[in-house]
Formats: sequence, C-alpha cells, structure tokens
Amino acid sequence: MKERLKQIPLLRQLYDRFAENSYRQRFETDGYGGFWGVFETFEAAIKAAPATKKIGYDCAELAQEYQAMLDRGDWEGSKSVVRSFDYPVLYWMGQILQTNKFEQLNVFDFGGNLGIHFLAYSKYLNLPNNLKWVVCDLPEIVKVGKSADRDSRLSFTTDLELASGSDIFLASGSIQYDRDIASRIEALERKPQHILINRIGLYAGKQIVTLQNGGKVFYAQYIFNRQEFISSFESIGYKLVDIWEDNIDSCYIPFHPEVNVPCYHGLYFKLTN
Ligand SMILES: C[S@@+](CC[C@H](N)C(=O)[O-])C[C@H]1O[C@@H](n2cnc3c(N)ncnc32)[C@H](O)[C@@H]1O
Repeated sequence: MKERLKQIPLLRQLYDRFAENSYRQRFETDGYGGFWGVFETFEAAIKAAPATKKIGYDCAELAQEYQAMLDRGDWEGSKSVVRSFDYPVLYWMGQILQTNKFEQLNVFDFGGNLGIHFLAYSKYLNLPNNLKWVVCDLPEIVKVGKSADRDSRLSFTTDLELASGSDIFLASGSIQYDRDIASRIEALERKPQHILINRIGLYAGKQIVTLQNGGKVFYAQYIFNRQEFISSFESIGYKLVDIWEDNIDSCYIPFHPEVNVPCYHGLYFKLTN
C-alpha cells in the first residue's frame, strides 16, 4: 500500500517531506551517529546545523566524558581499547620500528584525544624508552589531557607545526574534521617520514562535507574523493604503501543515496624525498 501511494507524484512528495522532517527531528536530538546533509564547505554545514547542540569537538563537557570513559576502560563502548581498525596501524608501526633505528622516536598523533592510541598501542608494540608521543588535539581536549598525571613520554599540544620532523604522523579518525591537512603538512619545515591515516571516509564520488550527530555535539566532516585524497599526499612527496578497510565506521546520509560509504579506510604513506 505504502509503495502504491508513493507512485502518485504529490503523495510521493508529501511522503518524502514527512520522512525527511521526521529524520531531521531525530537527528536534531537523540539520533547518535546519524548523518545529515550534503554541503560543499564546513561553513555551509555549520550554518545549516540544527541549533540543538554545539558544533565540533572543542567542548569541555565532551573532554570530561572522554576522561570518564578512559577511567572506566570503556572507549566507545568497547571493553577492549584496541579495535579491529587498529590492527593495520599496529602492523605498520611494528614494521617501521623493526626496519629503522631511531635515536629518539617522535610520534605526532593528530586527533589523538587523551592519548588513547599511545595507551592502547604501547601494550602491543615494543616502543622505545626514548619516545616522544605528542598528541595534537583541540584546546578543551588538550586541557584535560594536560591536567592529569600521565606517562612522561606523552605530551599534548594544539600546534600542528610541532609535527615538523616527526618520524610517524598518525591521524586516526581525525583528518576529516579539519581543512586540508596535506597542504598544512607540506608547509612544515621538515615533513614527517611516515603518515598513518585511519578511519576516514573515501569514495568514488565528489568530496563533500556532512554533519554527524555525536551525542553532545554535531560534527562537520569531510567524505573525501578517494583518488583526490591519495593524490593530495602523492603531490607533496609521499608514496602510498598500503590502504585497508575499516569495517566499523561507515557513512550513509539519508536522502543522499549518491554518497554511499559502506566502510571507511586507512592508508600508509611514506616520504620519498
Ligand atoms: C572521532 S575522534 C577520534 C579519536 C581517536 N583518534 C580514535 O581514533 O578513536 C576525533 C578526534 O579528533 C580531534 N579533532 C577534531 N578536530 C581536530 C582538529 N582540528 N585538530 C586536532 N584534533 C581534532 C577530536 O577532538 C577527537 O579527539
């Protein structure tokens, strides 16, 4: 019956409008994880966002929530801190550690939150003592990061320029929230040797920005065109060594079937010159 009604154009339009409004209402409130809208820029997405929540990760309440999750050992609802998408990163970090002799290993962890990757990966990797693991995150997250007594090898910054000269630049589930990271890496005095990017949306279509309901806040994020994304790193001197699927994250934007990202991806780039 529902399908038959939808064949009548006016009813079809009304049905679609009703469906869109009811999805939007859910998105504005408790639709955690849901996506909404296709935009060309962050500015347009932010302007169109519902007024029911703040925008972006730079939020004190969110930072406190992350600390509480860390204290409970319960990151993103998972009892185990290492998740399936972490294993390719662990594999490549292990290879990098085995095939290079580092006087001092410098890891720059963009969007590393409260040091969760340092904590998780150090259980599996034989990380050297002369390690400097710098988490770069937004001011409210960094404030909480700095406020607790953590491992002395771990430090926090908001300054991307400190990535200059790092051995490994890690960005897990974070590059999509900022503008044009490749050109900011190019502008560094000394580019990182190895770039491990994880948990990003890549697909064959045009690069877009969408909004996600993140519980306490909305996030604007990129879904990248796969080839353009890879080329943006190749054009600044990196070669793609590996690309893998992250089958935990995905992006379906209701009413936008053209953006269909059934899984996210991770990539390993190595500096060639
Ligand atoms: C989805 S969480 C991912 C956290 C963690 N890296 C992981 O893979 O589970 C995104 C992280 O990126 C950070 N982030 C978002 N925009 C950022 C920016 N412009 N600069 C630095 N960090 C940012 C957020 O604060 C948050 O810690």
